[in-house]
Amino acid sequence: MTTHAQELERYRAQTKASHSMYERAEKILPLGVSSNFRTFEPYPIYIQRAEGSKMWDVDGREYIDFSMCFGALMVGHSHPTMVKAVAKAAGEGTLYGMPHDREIRAAELIGERFGLEHVRFTNSGSESTMHALRLARCYTGRDKVLKFEGAYHGGHDTALVSVKPPKAKVGSVRHPKALPVGHGIPDGTVANTVVAQWNDVHSVREVLQKNENEVAAIILEPVMMNIGVIPPKDGFLQELRALCDESGALLIFDEVKTGAKLAWGGAQEWFKVKADIVCLAKAIGGGLPLGAFGARREIMNEIAQFRSFHAGTYASNPLATTACMTALSEVLTREVFPRAMELGSALAEGHNHIIRKYGLSACAVNVGVNGTVFWRKTPPTNYREWLDQDFDAFWRYWHMNLNRGVIPQAQCYDEQWTVSAVHTEKDVYRMLEVFDEIAREMR
Ligand SMILES: Cc1ncc(COP(=O)(O)O)c(C=O)c1O
Repeated sequence: MTTHAQELERYRAQTKASHSMYERAEKILPLGVSSNFRTFEPYPIYIQRAEGSKMWDVDGREYIDFSMCFGALMVGHSHPTMVKAVAKAAGEGTLYGMPHDREIRAAELIGERFGLEHVRFTNSGSESTMHALRLARCYTGRDKVLKFEGAYHGGHDTALVSVKPPKAKVGSVRHPKALPVGHGIPDGTVANTVVAQWNDVHSVREVLQKNENEVAAIILEPVMMNIGVIPPKDGFLQELRALCDESGALLIFDEVKTGAKLAWGGAQEWFKVKADIVCLAKAIGGGLPLGAFGARREIMNEIAQFRSFHAGTYASNPLATTACMTALSEVLTREVFPRAMELGSALAEGHNHIIRKYGLSACAVNVGVNGTVFWRKTPPTNYREWLDQDFDAFWRYWHMNLNRGVIPQAQCYDEQWTVSAVHTEKDVYRMLEVFDEIAREMR
């Protein structure tokens, strides 16, 4: 049996070039990375190139990539169709600062796919949720926003409340305390962000009652995917829809991770629930930085009437909108999803079979192409339950996978795997083969 310490030794021995790069990077980039989510112990692998479902690090090691840049690459790495379209677009000018045909086509494709009358582009998921929340506040004339404990909606102030609050401070299950992430979030922002418990309709109802006529919107990920993969209980999203209609709050689906991934038309199609505002990013950009938000015309009119501010130098640039157009019309077609979702389920079933075989205290869950292993016996249904697992086991599993050429999911125990349009049965088989070896060691 290899211990975690031995696996870390093996990791260091196999990633010497990454280590030197980390030492250089750390001198100029905090933690040696450009996004805090990319750091892990003892240092991350630095990537040289990527293609299809594979990435190669600076030590020349090959990995099957099931992170796919935190799920953004539903099209896969360097898809030939994407490369051709983006290379052509790069030669035709990358920024105009003026309107053009590709943004119209990309917006039309998004509108049709996600049932949105009007769409505006952004450059990231954070920007999409930030604008969506401002728009909801403007439309309703209310200041407060309801979010769920444990949910992540990006890096702006309103979203950075109760993302992963420490267990000792969270308050009661039904009335979670609103707690800022780190320092620098104004008290007023925290006071305007009310927090409810995922999968508990009573919690949502009570928080809405306590803040009667003050809540502009409920924002949620239809499947919570910043604490693994936690689907809504049957009927929960329908109940949220009804509570929004009753209370006058807008329902905002943050589909940054589910849009063009959970199904062709995202979570609205999958769960058959219509949101008032939809936030998009990741998959719709086809590998380029692009976000969008949209709603019915009456709501988006707040922007057209200059009442809710939206603008941006890079918004709808021709390069990213070409990638979006190409991804949505040529790569992420309806035909792609059944197969990718089947592979996603095969991964979860395969993991669960191995978990049972070796009697591990773990369980695998997937919703379509996204899935994860929870290091507890039963799937959690909310943040509090999610906290109750063996995170040390995750890190052992993580390093063991990397040592064997598999990136099993995006880094950290709160993420999940993505089966993209280009993953094959062979990739799935290899991941399960590696997991069998890991599970045997970990039993
Ligand atoms: C659900 C959700 N919303 C918003 C964001 C923020 O997106 P971005 O990193 O593009 O700003 C993320 C990022 O992972 C996300 O998962």
